[in-house]
Amino acid sequence: MKILILNGPNLNLLGKRERSIYGSLTFDEFFSSLKKKYADVELYYFQSNIEGEIIDKLHEVGFTFEGIILNAGAYTHTSIAIGDAIKGIETPVIEVHISNVYAREEFRHISYIAPNAKGIIAGFGLNSYELALESFL
Ligand code: DQA
Repeated sequence: MKILILNGPNLNLLGKRERSIYGSLTFDEFFSSLKKKYADVELYYFQSNIEGEIIDKLHEVGFTFEGIILNAGAYTHTSIAIGDAIKGIETPVIEVHISNVYAREEFRHISYIAPNAKGIIAGFGLNSYELALESFL
């Protein structure tokens, strides 16, 4: 089973960025422990700060992978283009957030991903990714 974790803008700064919200683990540290725990799954990881690169990646894997776990960061709340890309592919996408976006500023309550996603997991820290992965298994 091929699953991609796709992270959007500023998520390369995990471990350094607003640690009280996003924690102190880097994504690389978290991803290596996830790979060890789910050794039977073909897990891939891609991060980009560029909207078009996120769309290109969705197109690239969106007809062959079994699942995509997408944290589009702030693009969640702004990107009609990423929403359209999810509509255009066949692979189911789960929207994840580290923080509970619904307990934060109102602009974070809007999602262009959610209407096209299989489901949403938010607010469980980096565990949100693992919960999404479990849902594919
Ligand atoms: C986030 C929430 C977004 O509102 C924010 O812009 C992020 C991270 C999260 O994982 O909690 O960059 O997607």
